[in-house]
Amino acid sequence: MIRNALILGNGGRESALAYKLNSERVLVHAYPQNPTLAKYCISANLNKENFFESVLNYIREEEISIVVIGPENYLADGIVDFLESNKVKVFGPTKSAARIETDKSYAKRLMKENNVPTADYDIAQSKEECIEKSKKYSFPLVLKVSGLAAGKGAFVVKDRKEMESALKEIYDTEQFSKANSRVVIEEFMKGEEVSLFVITDGENMLALPPAQDFKRVYDNDEGPNTGGMGSYAPCRLLSPALEEKTLETIIRPVLSAMKREGNPFKGLLYAGLMIEEENVRVVEFNARFGDPETQSIMCTVNSSLYDIFMEVAEGNLTTEKIETNSLSAVTVVIASEGYPGEYKKSIEISVDDNTLDRNTLIFHAGTKNDNNKIFSTGGRMLNVTSFDMGLEKTIDRVYSNINKIKIEGSFYRKDIGKKGLKYEIK
Ligand code: AMP
Ligand code: GLY
Repeated sequence: MIRNALILGNGGRESALAYKLNSERVLVHAYPQNPTLAKYCISANLNKENFFESVLNYIREEEISIVVIGPENYLADGIVDFLESNKVKVFGPTKSAARIETDKSYAKRLMKENNVPTADYDIAQSKEECIEKSKKYSFPLVLKVSGLAAGKGAFVVKDRKEMESALKEIYDTEQFSKANSRVVIEEFMKGEEVSLFVITDGENMLALPPAQDFKRVYDNDEGPNTGGMGSYAPCRLLSPALEEKTLETIIRPVLSAMKREGNPFKGLLYAGLMIEEENVRVVEFNARFGDPETQSIMCTVNSSLYDIFMEVAEGNLTTEKIETNSLSAVTVVIASEGYPGEYKKSIEISVDDNTLDRNTLIFHAGTKNDNNKIFSTGGRMLNVTSFDMGLEKTIDRVYSNINKIKIEGSFYRKDIGKKGLKYEIK
């Protein structure tokens, strides 16, 4: 049987998935495009207007064997439900199961009812209720809009003044008008964060190597939260013993509860975890691969993801272990100056891949090809990923390569991965 796949989504994450599937000799199709996807994939010509029908027609014409969904908005729109009802194999959860990401109040209820460790919380439905309910928490506390907010809907506030300005942003600006009907008020959790990605058919689980995401815009984790400024994998903060504990006390109870409620989760369950000594608590769940963790993780996995995605799409995950290559991978995001605030658009990007060493890859994220010139289309423009033996060497490699890339009006963090050195096994 022909091994072919259609990837929907065109960020750095999808670029890395395309790179991985291509290396497994899968014929990959992708929509929309970016320069990396153009390198590894056939461009799927789809119609934005009648999108779902257009995807289905393309799948039939090209005899696509599996569809892999990248971003959450396709999930929230119910593309998996639509394709599955038309007998298409899909790697990704239904709209209802994706609520674990798209509706934070649903995720919190699920955790509370099933004794899954997470921050104490309350839900408010107005600014006044938010102020009232927040009184039982001491500062710092966390406010999160319940709906989708492109990674920008969580506010860690350290005093009353910061809380007032967060409430203003949540309730008085256009930005969160669709996501703020419910706001989660949460206890602040201390510790260090790690991302654990679990592939599941709703019951069986396969963990990918844990990764760490650098969410803050500046070095030493300063400045506002972003979509992610870099990552590395594997992240030894989550030891094999803690990973096992997480799978048994967090992931399994959540999957079992969802199945029991008639809402099984199939695809990639992303657990954002807070680790404080041996204590693991959930910060959030996502219903998809994380970005930029995926870019690092893909360089460490030997198993065929195509085969595993197929097992999941068929509801029968039998692979028992992800084979890895024992290498480390580090990804640094090159962003446009000003990001995550107002940033410069349409920056011309000229990178000669031949100047980079063979253990370094470029994954395009927010860029496009316009008449053979590449321009930025988003704040996070490029990802540079290196792989090597051990984290320390890999950090050196990624920065020695990134130094060769000159893009006017861009910046990147200089400390990606360094936090992980203290956990490395010597
Ligand atoms: P979220 O949108 O839930 O992923 O939150 C974004 C980021 O805010 C997380 O990655 C954490 O860095 C921080 N955060 C969210 N919730 C909490 C919490 N309860 N305690 C501490 N930090 C948090
Ligand atoms: N790395 C954060 C996210 O993908 O949501």
